[in-house]
Amino acid sequence: MPEQSSPAETAVIKRVRTRHFQNAKETGILITGLTSYDQLSAQIFDEAGIDFLLVGDSAGNNVLGYDTTLPVTVDDLIPLARAVAGAVKRAFVVADMPFGSYENSAEEALNTAVRFMKETGAHAVKLEGGVRSADKIRRIVDAGIPVMAHIGFTPQSEHGLGGHIIQGRGEGEEQLVADALAVEEAGAFAVVLEMVPAVAAKRVTEALRIPTIGVGAGPDVDGQLLVWTDFAGFSTGRIPKFVKQYADLRGALTTAVLQYREEVADRSYPGPEHSYD
Ligand code: KIV
Repeated sequence: MPEQSSPAETAVIKRVRTRHFQNAKETGILITGLTSYDQLSAQIFDEAGIDFLLVGDSAGNNVLGYDTTLPVTVDDLIPLARAVAGAVKRAFVVADMPFGSYENSAEEALNTAVRFMKETGAHAVKLEGGVRSADKIRRIVDAGIPVMAHIGFTPQSEHGLGGHIIQGRGEGEEQLVADALAVEEAGAFAVVLEMVPAVAAKRVTEALRIPTIGVGAGPDVDGQLLVWTDFAGFSTGRIPKFVKQYADLRGALTTAVLQYREEVADRSYPGPEHSYD
């Protein structure tokens, strides 16, 4: 198992760039990523040394009040990506290209990527799909914009895939490897593997020169990514099995809100220390 870097060593990188993803692959230093959709969470994650922040279209479920990521638009994500990119000093910020903003053609994909880069200050874009998205990735990369690919379970194709189903099992493993090689060949600097068996993720990681970022892909990848509201115990609804909850933010906030409500009701808030004379 490669040695993990200490937080002090991690902090030495002043600004994470695509070359640090490649260095991580080569040295075995694991990459850490979280989603972020706002200024305050971005500041906290950045100061804690998280390497990259994904302004994911999971904002659909976690910010915008949708049941899936499908209704999310570029206009929805632009202000969120701008807030995150404006908040960080060190972390690499990746803006997610939402459903309907790149599938039609490589031209459409490039236009969307350019919008994110011009209007938000993000450092890269992410899009879903392997072989089927390779031409779009190539066009964006040729324009000088780094692309993070996303294969395995791709939430924007949830209905086509028949629900939240693990990908890359059995015969699906060959398709996963083909997708991974296609996005590498197209110029992606990293690839997210979502909800795939650990053995398949290991095989892909060994086959690729670019780093793999696992979200529900087991330990044998080059980095990990989690949706922040899941990892912090803030989300409602179904939390995937692969998520470890590192905090109970929902519980902590509920306790605080109940106490505030009671203290307003019994007039113990505001106290004299909170009042202007
Ligand atoms: O939008 C998102 O949060 C994502 C990750 C789950 C990979 O795409």
